[in-house]
Amino acid sequence: MQILVTGGAGFIGSAFVRMVLAETGDQVTNLDKLTYAGNLENLRAVEGNPRYRFVQGDICDEKLVNALLAEAKPDAIVHFAAESHVDRSIDDPAAVIETNLRGTSVLLKVAKAAGTAKFVHVSTDEVYGSLEAPLVATEEFLLNPSSPYSASKAGSDLLARSYFVTFKMPVVITRASNNYGPYQYPEKLIPLMTAHALEDRRLPVYGDGQQVRDWLYVDDHCRAILAVLQKGRVGEIYNIGGNCSLPNLDVVRRLLAATGKPESLIEYVKDRPGHDRRYALSSDKLHRETGWLPLVGFETGLAQTIDWYRANPVWLANLRKRADYQQFMERQYGNRAASR
Ligand code: NAD
Ligand code: DAU
Repeated sequence: MQILVTGGAGFIGSAFVRMVLAETGDQVTNLDKLTYAGNLENLRAVEGNPRYRFVQGDICDEKLVNALLAEAKPDAIVHFAAESHVDRSIDDPAAVIETNLRGTSVLLKVAKAAGTAKFVHVSTDEVYGSLEAPLVATEEFLLNPSSPYSASKAGSDLLARSYFVTFKMPVVITRASNNYGPYQYPEKLIPLMTAHALEDRRLPVYGDGQQVRDWLYVDDHCRAILAVLQKGRVGEIYNIGGNCSLPNLDVVRRLLAATGKPESLIEYVKDRPGHDRRYALSSDKLHRETGWLPLVGFETGLAQTIDWYRANPVWLANLRKRADYQQFMERQYGNRAASR
């Protein structure tokens, strides 16, 4: 099979590319714009693989996407490319609208014209919005996004679904919970807190730290997408959860314990505007139809992740010394004075 992956230089996309090349005989073309979050260092292990090809380009560029599909003739598209950070979308919503909405619409249009046999649209549990306990989202739940990021993902889900309903295009949508693991850009909770803990710097917990997320190890997510690619029914939506719901403060405390650092490093800072209190979802449908289950428990996954960041200080330093990273961190945390 020839697979076109979009956003394959990012955190989850690169894990998926590495997994496909290691575990299947498939060919992969990776289309990535290389935004601040795209990093070819994530793909060093596969760059010489004859079944792998990298193309730098923007999914919003219809001419380029058209030419690429005409030439590569992929059997399937797995669409990861997105602006993925909630805080950045609050800082400036323009980029999520452009890439997540318009970029997805370009890809869908071109893939429809090319007759691509399967289109996996990678989405998120954030589209269901914040859920009061004990509610757990199934795929039929209403979409109720809170941030510009989740609203743009919800919009792109609806667009993808409309291509199935209107044009009978073979679209499948996946909605995963919070991923963690190696190569995650250090603006997200676990890599940011790991980097700070390893350097004895303050760990900035938003608000009261009682917001609940369901943690999914990145390789478990990638195996789920492979399962959907191989067995998922077109027109369907599949939730992908880690079966590991934890308040942020618990995650941070476990991380401090695993790195041997004191809890006095925790600093409570101003909350994220519109901060979703709790995400929770059921992956029963995916399990029933494909047999998939998450295999990596949180303790093991967290230890593996911390080990990876410890072993890769140059990867981390190269990203953190970039001006765009430093400016974003200054904007984000410079004005989030300690709240208590
Ligand atoms: P990421 O930010 O690490 O990577 C995004 C990648 O997309 C980067 O390589 C970037 O260069 C590329 N990209 C961005 N705009 C592009 C454009 N216009 N054209 C081509 N490439 C572009 O993101 P991630 O965390 O790996 O997330 C990947 C996907 O999974 C996203 O669609 C995200 O919404 C979804 N998702 C993420 C999580 C999570 O916890 N990280 C959970 C559920 C779903
Ligand atoms: O749920 C899936 C989503 O998970 C994905 O769709 C997004 O792409 C991904 O970024 C992630 O979104 P979150 O907003 O949940 O992830 P983030 O790592 O930014 O934050 C996780 C929680 O930790 C959230 O409640 C905010 C909190 N937080 C985050 C940071 C960066 C802090 O308390 N302090 C921080 O410094």
